[in-house]
Amino acid sequence: ARKFFVGGNWKCNGRTEEVKKIVATLNEGLVPASDIVDVVVSPPFVFLPLVKSLLRSDFHVAAQNCWVKKGGAYTGEVSAEMLVDLEIPWVILGHSERRLLLNESKEFVGDKVAYALSKGLKVIACVGETLEQRESGSTLDIVAAQTKAIADRVSDWTNIVIAYEPVWAIGTGKVATPVQAQEVHAELREWLKVNTSPEVAATVRIIYGGSVNGANSKELAAQPDVDGFLVGGASLKPEFIDIINSAT
Ligand code: 13P
Repeated sequence: ARKFFVGGNWKCNGRTEEVKKIVATLNEGLVPASDIVDVVVSPPFVFLPLVKSLLRSDFHVAAQNCWVKKGGAYTGEVSAEMLVDLEIPWVILGHSERRLLLNESKEFVGDKVAYALSKGLKVIACVGETLEQRESGSTLDIVAAQTKAIADRVSDWTNIVIAYEPVWAIGTGKVATPVQAQEVHAELREWLKVNTSPEVAATVRIIYGGSVNGANSKELAAQPDVDGFLVGGASLKPEFIDIINSAT
C-alpha cells in the first residue's frame, strides 16, 4: 500500500506572526503517526528556516520552487544546493501557477525535477489541465505530456510524488468530484505502467490538489488511486488537520 501524503502549499502567503500561529496550530493537531501519513508544509522561501525550527518533528518542510541547475548568476533564484544546505527535504516543482504565470515549459520543469533529485531533494511534481483543455477532451494528453517530460529525464521515481492539480479546481472552490479525480489518477497510473514500469506505477503516490478542504477530503481520499492531497488555501487554516486525518 502507498503511504498517504498530505502537502500544504502556502503559496505567497503569510507574515511572521501568522506563520508562527499556523505552526502552533499544526503542532497541537492530533493526526495519525508518520508511518501512516507523510505531512509536508511549504511556506515561502523566506519563512523556511523559521518554520523548520518551530515545526513538530513528524512534519516536514518543502520549498515551492528551485533553480534548474547549479546556482550562480541567476538573480532572484534559489538553488537546490541551498535547500540541501538548509536541510529542506522537499521541493514543489511545476505548479500550474508557475507554468502559466511564469511560462515554465514542461521541458524546463522536467529539467528542474531531474536536477533537484540529483541533489538529493524529494520532489512534489505538479501536473494538470486547464478548463479549456478539459472541455476539449485533452486532459489525459496534457497530463501525460507533462509527466513524459519528467519521465524522459528521470529513471528513479522513489523520491517523486505526483500532484494532479486541475487548473480549473485551484483556488476556485470547484473541487473535482471523487469520480473525476479517480479517473485521471487511474489513467495517469496506467500511463506510468506503460511508459515507466509496472513497479513505478504501483508505488508512486499520486495526490490530488484543487479546492480540497476539511469537508471534501474524506470522500476523495476513499478513491483507490488518490494517495493524498496538495492543499492550498485550506492549508493555512486549522482544517488542514482534518484533511491530514482523512488518511485513515
Ligand atoms: P487550493 O487548495 O487553494 O485550491 O490550491 C490548490 C493548490 O494549488 C495546491 O498546490
